Amino acid sequence: MDEEELSAGLVDRLRGAFEVAAYTVDGVAERLGPQANGALARNETTLAFQRTAAGDSLDTMIRLFLLQRAAPKELVEKAFPGCLAELLALGILKEAGHLVAAAIDVRPYAEDDRHWWVIADLTPGLDGRREPMRSDYVLGIAPASLSLVKLTVPIKAGKALDVGTGCGIQALHLADRVGHLVATDINPRALQLTRWTAALNRIDLDVRDGSLYEPVAGEQFDLIVSNPPYVIAPPSAEARLTYRETGFAGDAVVEQLVRQAPQHLTEGGWCQLLANWTCVRGQDWRERIASWTGDRSSWAVQREQLDPAEYVELWLRDAGLHGRPEYTSRYDAWLRWLDKQQVEAIGMGWINLRNTAGSTHAEEWPYEIEQPIGPYVLDRLERIQGLPADLTGLYLTTAEDVIQETTGQPGAEDPATIVLRRQRGMRRAEQVDTVLAGFVGACDGDLSVGQILDALASLLERDDLHANYLPKIADLITEGFLTY
Ligand SMILES: C[S@@+](CC[C@H](N)C(=O)[O-])C[C@H]1O[C@@H](n2cnc3c(N)ncnc32)[C@H](O)[C@@H]1O
Repeated sequence: MDEEELSAGLVDRLRGAFEVAAYTVDGVAERLGPQANGALARNETTLAFQRTAAGDSLDTMIRLFLLQRAAPKELVEKAFPGCLAELLALGILKEAGHLVAAAIDVRPYAEDDRHWWVIADLTPGLDGRREPMRSDYVLGIAPASLSLVKLTVPIKAGKALDVGTGCGIQALHLADRVGHLVATDINPRALQLTRWTAALNRIDLDVRDGSLYEPVAGEQFDLIVSNPPYVIAPPSAEARLTYRETGFAGDAVVEQLVRQAPQHLTEGGWCQLLANWTCVRGQDWRERIASWTGDRSSWAVQREQLDPAEYVELWLRDAGLHGRPEYTSRYDAWLRWLDKQQVEAIGMGWINLRNTAGSTHAEEWPYEIEQPIGPYVLDRLERIQGLPADLTGLYLTTAEDVIQETTGQPGAEDPATIVLRRQRGMRRAEQVDTVLAGFVGACDGDLSVGQILDALASLLERDDLHANYLPKIADLITEGFLTY
């Protein structure tokens, strides 16, 4: 790959070619149809190859970049008028006799009414090909990238930072709501491809080289996002993959990002990370994360926990090593190393830290959630921070998405269990007793919390309702069952 930038002229010609050919998410979906598109999402190209036989410009673009099939030079020249020489010189395309093939992936990508083209390394493993990846491989749009996109709080930010930008996918999503956007990486290929992605999409991006917060020493941001290289692997692992592993021990890369976040955040600023963390024998992982987040308001969610064998298998497969001669020796060494570190499981999830005084809430929540979850994350932390010490003066309303589920013996006078379930956000379910169910049922904004509790207390002839139920009501407010 050449060190050159995409010239403004090339950007104009490329965008023009893509637009004329309809090389967009919708254009490709329409050309391939649902079956071939579905197969391609599973890395199978045969059906899509059949559907792109007519040889027009869209077929050529799909074959080159999405199917990784070489195309005759004259078809490529026709698809990209006036671009071929520059694309070859930049190393985006390469020649093989009278054929031309893609050396780098350029693909359309969209969210709602926003459209982009993303430049990254070619997707590995198409049609079951087993290819160990180059160590400086630049990841394209991966499921984890999209999880972070959906987790990101929908705020407008004066300054934002994307640590470990890869192909620039997080930065693309942030660009239209951030004044000054900085993207960092330690992989020169990633920096180059991010510059190209930004140029192709006419995005103003401050791309910087360096590890973690080094390139932004002394600077503060309103929003920091990172899908860091969090894979917990032996430090001496041969052929380390920069996009997922670092020389940091265990989960230290995540720990450092979290611990140092407050000094790079404005007051009230957000840091949101995808992460893996070790669950060490004899230690509660929640306490481990709380020791990183300190006195900042934080919320960590473990979405999945894998045992060491599951973890090693996952990441050896991801590296294309399953079935290769070194597979079992790598598996063995990795497992032994985890065992030596006293790792009994690995947690996978997110950490949200807001730079305000508060506490850490860490929990396991492996269930399906609403996506994007970012708006809920923002509301949740704001709700917690806005909660007064005395709730009795609040006028609460039950959120519209709450439903009540009761179970019990047929014909029984009272239900055996009552569950309140939210349809939105984390889709929480809370088991409540008849008093709390009665309280929630009465929350229509007319009476204050104190008035409803007093009415229930006199009806039930109990004097413990304030003491017993106010903490539970606070939890229901935090989780958005009740709003004020
Ligand atoms: C999992 S990829 C994420 C790429 C992209 N941000 C996304 O969301 O898909 C992690 C990125 O972090 C970069 N990286 C690795 N070590 C780093 C370090 N010490 N400091 C900053 N970035 C690093 C890798 O080169 C890679 O691009």
